[in-house]
Amino acid sequence: MSRIIGTHSDGSNCYTRNCKLALSVAYTPFDEYVAGREKTSQEVPQDRLDDVEFTLILNEATDAMASEEWPEEYAQDTKRLLLALYKRHGLPSVGRTRAVFKTGNGEVLKIAFTSEGELANGNEVHAAQQADPFIPIARTRWGHEAGVDFTVMEEVEVVPRLDYKTQPEWVGYVDSGQVGYTKEGKLVAYDL
Ligand SMILES: Nc1ncnc2c1ncn2[C@@H]1O[C@H](COP(=O)(O)OP(=O)(O)O)[C@@H](O)[C@H]1O
Ligand SMILES: [Mg+2]
Repeated sequence: MSRIIGTHSDGSNCYTRNCKLALSVAYTPFDEYVAGREKTSQEVPQDRLDDVEFTLILNEATDAMASEEWPEEYAQDTKRLLLALYKRHGLPSVGRTRAVFKTGNGEVLKIAFTSEGELANGNEVHAAQQADPFIPIARTRWGHEAGVDFTVMEEVEVVPRLDYKTQPEWVGYVDSGQVGYTKEGKLVAYDL
């Protein structure tokens, strides 16, 4: 559900982030996009490819918040925070409900852009406070910046797929088996 982000040199519209492979792609200059001017476009210089990708991410988050009719002010605060974190930490990983930034000091910041993401953030903080949970979860606490609540979670090494015959029983109860190893080598869930 990406919006048009620019025009190719042949005049066709550019929708997908795969376009970054094509040097002919044109895009809205990042600073103009942020300033709310989306009219002009120009060739993408190599060193701005991440900006194009981030612009797409911001578009998706904006669409998601608008479709849920988030209060305009909170949506703006969330977008401002996403931009600040992108400038600080680089491109986030993006799930269906949250953008996740690696801070580089063993933690990730999980910013919700849907109500489901807000719910997941709350669930994960709550689960991380349980003494002896059936499903162990990565250490998680609340963070707050620029008017937005988000979570600060211990970074894990994501495991793509475990052998269902030998994996601990609880992994079968984690949506899509979203688990990973902590730096101490403990298997935990990171998305509840
Ligand atoms: N604790 C973590 N450590 C490392 N990567 C993470 C962590 N949490 C999330 N991620 C990355 O961010 C992506 C999106 O996070 P996720 O929790 O799955 O959000 P969503 O609720 O949007 O699915 C994940 O697929 C994963 O690649
Ligand atoms: Mg997920």
